[in-house]
Amino acid sequence: MILITGGTGFIGSHTAVVLQQAGYDVLVIDNLHNSEREVISAIGQITGREPAFIEGDIRDVSLLAGLFKTHHIQAVMHFAGLKAVGESTQIPLTYYDNNIQGSITLLQAMRNAGVRTFVFSSSATVYGDPQRLPLTEDHPRSATNPYGYTKLVIEDILESLYRSEPGWKIARLRYFNPVGAHPSGLIGESPQGIPNNLMPFIAQVATGQRKQLNIFGNDYDTPDGTGVRDYIHVMDLAEGHKTALEYCNAQAQTLLTTNLGTGQGYSVLEMIQAYEQACGKPIAYQVAERRPGDIAACWADTTYAKQTLGWKADLGLKEMCQDGWRWASRDNTGQQKRGQDSFNTD
Ligand code: NAD
Ligand code: WQD
Repeated sequence: MILITGGTGFIGSHTAVVLQQAGYDVLVIDNLHNSEREVISAIGQITGREPAFIEGDIRDVSLLAGLFKTHHIQAVMHFAGLKAVGESTQIPLTYYDNNIQGSITLLQAMRNAGVRTFVFSSSATVYGDPQRLPLTEDHPRSATNPYGYTKLVIEDILESLYRSEPGWKIARLRYFNPVGAHPSGLIGESPQGIPNNLMPFIAQVATGQRKQLNIFGNDYDTPDGTGVRDYIHVMDLAEGHKTALEYCNAQAQTLLTTNLGTGQGYSVLEMIQAYEQACGKPIAYQVAERRPGDIAACWADTTYAKQTLGWKADLGLKEMCQDGWRWASRDNTGQQKRGQDSFNTD
């Protein structure tokens, strides 16, 4: 059985689908801070069986001890965490406690139970402001905000753990910009309040929940002046996790650190255009100030993932937008209710 922390969240839920469809048994633990219980039944609808689910917090030592005792867990995929860059600058202690302390508690429970296979959600944020593109895994790391710092620290904790005793099989997966949704339209990304990220914001302009998109700067040193990112379909990302797990399983011990991206950068204007194609409506926008802390451009070198895992992203911008739109435009009263709570036409 594979334990997925944060498994009702965006990336964890899609990975749960891929693992179940590959024949793995999945146990999800999530405190539902940024997701909903209904995701478990949606995963059941897609795959034909619901994963086991425990509502709880990864910082709960006795809950974790009991969970490793009562289930035969072979590996842990660790998605649970807080991820909003802006929020992390306002409540850094909460981020350090949830992300860093949460990871330590989880790793201690694994160690006590003799479970040593761990797949971690790291991020391209660890590269800071790129000194060169595309980003290779040996690019210097840095952090400019508490969220990014938690990823640096956890990466380092995993390295010390790997070096401390034999047998650990650890994958540190550095995601670029995950977007899209499962093609069924049954699971996807559900940001609370005003979306921080580009694609969910565009989606809410398309559904009429928001009046227009603010483009954060059009004077960057990029072909059209807007920020360029490596957007990756969440289903490709989920497949990448399955491949990383299988890679770990095949080694006696390993510390794998790899990018998961497409290697292709798209600008904000290109994203708007592609989304307009997918939803058949114009996306209203205005150019606003740069967002503090933003970088001009960022995309992955995908060579190492191909070499080690034999994995590469297959889905393009069209699928990212079409699948994202299918999810965003679904008839889901729960989601609409949540959207209304935070209705804002900024
Ligand atoms: P998400 O918020 O949708 O999912 C995270 C899940 O973890 C949520 O369901 C939340 O309720 C749960 N959670 C948070 N703290 C918890 C705790 N202490 N105990 C139990 N559950 C807890 O986020 P996501 O986009 O699916 O991201 C998953 C992971 O990937 C995160 O670690 C994030 O930092 C990392 N990541 C995300 C992105 C991105 O752009 N989405 C990019 C790079 C890395
Ligand atoms: C993409 C582009 C914005 C919103 C963040 C985190 C990173 C990682 C992924 C977790 C940029 C522009 C955005 C808007 C805009 N998360 N934009 N108007 O900033 O690349 O990465 O999420 O690890 O750590 O920093 O993603 O989607 O916020 O922005 O113009 O309303 O869209 O300026 O160029 P980002 P994003």
